[in-house]
Amino acid sequence: MKILVLHGPNLNLLGTREPEVYGFTTLADIDRDTAALADDLGVVVESFQSNHEGALIDRIHAAAREGIAGILINPGAYTHTSIALRDALSAVSIPAVEVHLSNIHARESFRRRSHIAPVVVAQVAGFGAAGYTLALRGLVARLQG
Ligand code: DQA
Repeated sequence: MKILVLHGPNLNLLGTREPEVYGFTTLADIDRDTAALADDLGVVVESFQSNHEGALIDRIHAAAREGIAGILINPGAYTHTSIALRDALSAVSIPAVEVHLSNIHARESFRRRSHIAPVVVAQVAGFGAAGYTLALRGLVARLQG
């Protein structure tokens, strides 16, 4: 079973980007920890980061053709703006979990609204980098259950 881990805009800067909000963990650290847990769970993960909305959408379309079983996605700021990304997730019907390092509900009001939340099976927000492994456990349990 293969899970696609999608990282949206500015997440390539993790480690140096507003560490007081997002911590010091880098994207490479997150991908390494996610892959290690995937190994333990007997699944495969592939990670993709883009700063471009269309590239993320194209990757979601390709995931459907490739038979990807599930998606973990941190859409970054596209969470709050992108109906196109939401429509892409909706169109492919691959179970997805939305992940945010920060608790988007406890920050600026414009971050409280997620266009993605209604089309995913769950949202994990506020656990920092640990949110990715928590979300992977939840998604795999759901896919296997
Ligand atoms: C984020 C929260 C978003 O509001 C922000 O634009 C990000 C990161 C998070 O992981 O906490 O880029 O998705």
